[in-house]
Amino acid sequence: MEFTKNVIDETIIEKLEIKPFSSASNSVCVANMGWSVGPNTFYCTQIILDAVEKKFISEGFTPDQMPQFQVFFNSLLFDDFNILFESLPPKRRYFSAGVPGPFHGRLFPDSSLHFVHSSYALNWLSEVPPEVLDKDSPAWNQGRIHYTSAPEAVVEAYAAQFAKYMGMFLDTKAKELVEGSMMVLILPSTPDGIPHSDVPTGILFNHLGSCLVDLAKEGLVSEALVDSFNIPMYSVTPKEIRQLVERNGCFSIERMEPTDCRTNPDIPATGYSITMRFRAGLEGVITRHFGAEIINELFERFLERMDDVMPSLLSSNAQGSQITVILKRKCYN
Ligand SMILES: C[S@@+](CC[C@H](N)C(=O)[O-])C[C@H]1O[C@@H](n2cnc3c(N)ncnc32)[C@H](O)[C@@H]1O
Repeated sequence: MEFTKNVIDETIIEKLEIKPFSSASNSVCVANMGWSVGPNTFYCTQIILDAVEKKFISEGFTPDQMPQFQVFFNSLLFDDFNILFESLPPKRRYFSAGVPGPFHGRLFPDSSLHFVHSSYALNWLSEVPPEVLDKDSPAWNQGRIHYTSAPEAVVEAYAAQFAKYMGMFLDTKAKELVEGSMMVLILPSTPDGIPHSDVPTGILFNHLGSCLVDLAKEGLVSEALVDSFNIPMYSVTPKEIRQLVERNGCFSIERMEPTDCRTNPDIPATGYSITMRFRAGLEGVITRHFGAEIINELFERFLERMDDVMPSLLSSNAQGSQITVILKRKCYN
């Protein structure tokens, strides 16, 4: 995280134009798209606010000329906003508000935001591509739960679905952000030219899929339910990001930095810690499809067999498994 913090810091201090921020109310509006309970949401927000303050100081602003920050926390309606507000840092130096709704759509008035941040949320697709559920389509994803190790038609269907939602996100944020403002987006990614099955998440999705198929073979879960389950998540490549930003046309890429998705690569992860993190990330989506009854059995099996998966996980391409993208809203024309 230290590296990502430095990337965000350096880019804001070097590239942010503070002229558009000088409004009559002297307030800076920041939207955090896709919050979750836990320290990450507040930590990333604070990194951005600190960097903006440093930029103001470097431009000669005195403490009484500093902007006031308004932070909007956005997530889906079914997320519990009470938990968010109960866990806000007590010493925060910003006003806060919750904004529920899908971030691909319009949530804010025209030209009202100065900063957008989103971390590990844009990778979630609101809906899996319909073709992967269609028995008559070449992209029918029978017996798998993700596009990792699937036929090219499945990979293409997921890529097109991600492009559709990311395109909507860029279109709506282009309207909501003021000229010269910035977006910091952090996403899981797959390096250009590397098979999805060689990145850590791909290996873990394959592993989860084989545990589910085994449960179906033993009659503990219906085969039809497994066939109709596809994880609605996509790891974008740097090339795809570049193409989508160019297609939208309203943003310049100020920085694009592939990094390692592991929190601290110096501390070796164990089968247990990986299973717990994976379970925390996916339990909701699995429960909504299969019901809560299978969760313990599924992740016990997942953990039992982690020894077989660890060698490929350790030799996989962790470098480039996360990407930080910093965009600037171009001038309106
Ligand atoms: C994995 S959490 C990421 C949390 C946090 N940003 C972090 O870095 O730890 C993803 C969050 O994004 C939300 N989310 C997913 N799709 C969304 C969408 N289309 N619109 C708004 N929120 C969304 C989910 O409900 C969830 O709370």
